[in-house]
Amino acid sequence: MWKGRFQEATADLVEQFGESISFDWRLYSYDIAGSIAHARAQVSAGLLTTEEFTAIESGLHEIEGEIERGEFQFSTALEDIHMNIEAELTNRIGAAGAKLHTARSRNDQVATDTRLYCRTEIDLILELIEGLEAALLSQAEKHAATVVPGYTHLQRGQPVTIGHHLLAYVEMLARDKTRLLDCQKRLNVSPLGSGALAGSTINLDRQQIADELEFAAVTTNSMDAIADRDYIAELLFDLALVGAHLSRLSEDFILWSSSEFGFCTFSDAHTTGSSLMPQKKNPDVCEITRGKTGRLYGNLTAILTAIKGLPLTYNRDLQEDKEPLFDSIDTIKLTLRVNAEMIAAMTINEAVCEAAASDPLLLATDLADYLVKKGIPFRQAHELVGKAVAESVARKIPLDKLDLSEVDKAYGEDAKDVFDLNTALKARTNPGAPSISNVKSQVKRWQG
Ligand code: ARG
Repeated sequence: MWKGRFQEATADLVEQFGESISFDWRLYSYDIAGSIAHARAQVSAGLLTTEEFTAIESGLHEIEGEIERGEFQFSTALEDIHMNIEAELTNRIGAAGAKLHTARSRNDQVATDTRLYCRTEIDLILELIEGLEAALLSQAEKHAATVVPGYTHLQRGQPVTIGHHLLAYVEMLARDKTRLLDCQKRLNVSPLGSGALAGSTINLDRQQIADELEFAAVTTNSMDAIADRDYIAELLFDLALVGAHLSRLSEDFILWSSSEFGFCTFSDAHTTGSSLMPQKKNPDVCEITRGKTGRLYGNLTAILTAIKGLPLTYNRDLQEDKEPLFDSIDTIKLTLRVNAEMIAAMTINEAVCEAAASDPLLLATDLADYLVKKGIPFRQAHELVGKAVAESVARKIPLDKLDLSEVDKAYGEDAKDVFDLNTALKARTNPGAPSISNVKSQVKRWQG
């Protein structure tokens, strides 16, 4: 492609070191769509005849079909997807193919391709997040009233329900979706026409190209359009955060499925055994999800590091944007799919949950609230209940079996009623609190 200036061929090792075709081939359909839009604008500018355009368009479609069917021979000597396609097109159609690159550079081409790729992939990821949400929602609906301890510091805190716990993740995922949509909106801008860095003396209709590719606008600074990869960093952050949420969910599930908790059981199909210990049923999907989140963070770090020291505009370092991008997208898609499937098939062990939730200490705070309702300041009520708990521990008598009126005269006969879980949950009706009716109406709201 640059034979005019060079006398020597590229060294084999340099070719091997610099090629990106082994991974950027997957941008082919976006590259071809961009080329067709660019060629059509050349027709409008009187630079290509309609016959030449037709040859370009059908040649590109032919190549696209061959790539799709795995019949196309990629060449590492041609470095990347852009040159592989263009060279082959020119091979096939001759002069018209050689005109295609007028007023264009691989720099605006690659920025266009990756933006189009991200735009499409975000749609697919949004759908997969919705699939995971649906699995969480169906379990939340089934277990809107299955009471379990809620934890802070992994110590039992207050009663919640499985439904409420799972809905917390639906909230996180819903915010993740808005972040992805926002990212998609910001990246949906056409860089084509920015050329290598300074536009071109040949002015093609950038708006026409943008319209054909369904971009919402054209970029307004050619240097920014070429050098910028913040849309990739932003997307990788959004995906890293989806990973963080799934990793926390995994951690909850790993605990829940342990013999120590026993709140849930995963299906055989979504667990693995041990080659040595015959009794084992391991939550590998959860563990791998937790592990893969590390990759998502690593990919984000890779792109941020790649761009931090680059002078404007294009530097070849930017070629390193694609592998982390592709990896995060592949990783999150598979992770979302397998988790949705696993959650849909998971069993919640209601009796075990109920036994854990029957711990009267979960209602110690409610007992303090009871005293507050009798006119005692909260700090004082907290101390009184703390003393009752200490006594219950010391005398090995569960808090709900202790004669509270003996501990302090502030407690009335009705203090015992505090230890009814149903009453305790029913009282939590404020927005966001885990009353069963709240949980049910949240499930309905999300199911829309
Ligand atoms: N393969 C290159 C990349 O991914 C395309 C742009 C090449 N531009 C250049 N000036 N060498 O970044």
